[in-house]
Amino acid sequence: MDVKLAINKRRAYRALKPFKITVKIIQELSKAAQLAPSCFNKQPWRYVFISDKKCLNDFRVALPDANNWAYDASLIIAVISEASLDCKLKDGREYYLFDTGIASGFMILRATELGLVAHPMAGYDAQKAKELLNIPTNMTLINIIAVSQHAENYKDFLTKEKIESEENRPPRMNLSEFIYINKYGISFNEKKF
Ligand SMILES: Cc1cc2nc3c(=O)[nH]c(=O)nc-3n(C[C@H](O)[C@H](O)[C@H](O)COP(=O)(O)O)c2cc1C
Repeated sequence: MDVKLAINKRRAYRALKPFKITVKIIQELSKAAQLAPSCFNKQPWRYVFISDKKCLNDFRVALPDANNWAYDASLIIAVISEASLDCKLKDGREYYLFDTGIASGFMILRATELGLVAHPMAGYDAQKAKELLNIPTNMTLINIIAVSQHAENYKDFLTKEKIESEENRPPRMNLSEFIYINKYGISFNEKKF
């Protein structure tokens, strides 16, 4: 699968079905993150792969009802970092979230290529999740990613809106709304370029 196809194929589906997590899967996803670029090659990303059934069950207390579709995920990846693990420039710029985001994006695309759904989520109780996963208090649990196979049938508990987004990709901004040419505020216009 080429990158363009993986980008197009990737979706944050919520209808999930279990699959067997192997060492190979963990290695493949990890290696995609491993090769990501980072500021001064600091590699600030840290991940916890949760695949043990009991640990996944225990983790449910950190998920709000709105994200109960993720109960069907065979793997939850906790995405963790901390500012001191990455560049902090004199003018205040910090790079850990950016770099960890790139690495996680690579991981998500590799999961897509492997035929899996990798659905990032911000909806969780960070304090409970950190306690359950033994994440040091100074570190940020940036995101969790629910990984599984895509189920053909929607679950009863998916709301109307969630079923809609299962069937149709949520709309995106036009390029002219977020791409500027030469100066901020000069929107990209293919006819004028
Ligand atoms: C940082 C982040 C947080 C998200 N949090 C949630 C979440 O808590 N629950 C959920 O169902 N989807 C969550 N999503 C998925 C988005 O809703 C989804 O990516 C977006 O609607 C676009 O749909 P698509 O990824 O299928 O193109 C999150 C995505 C990102 C990147």
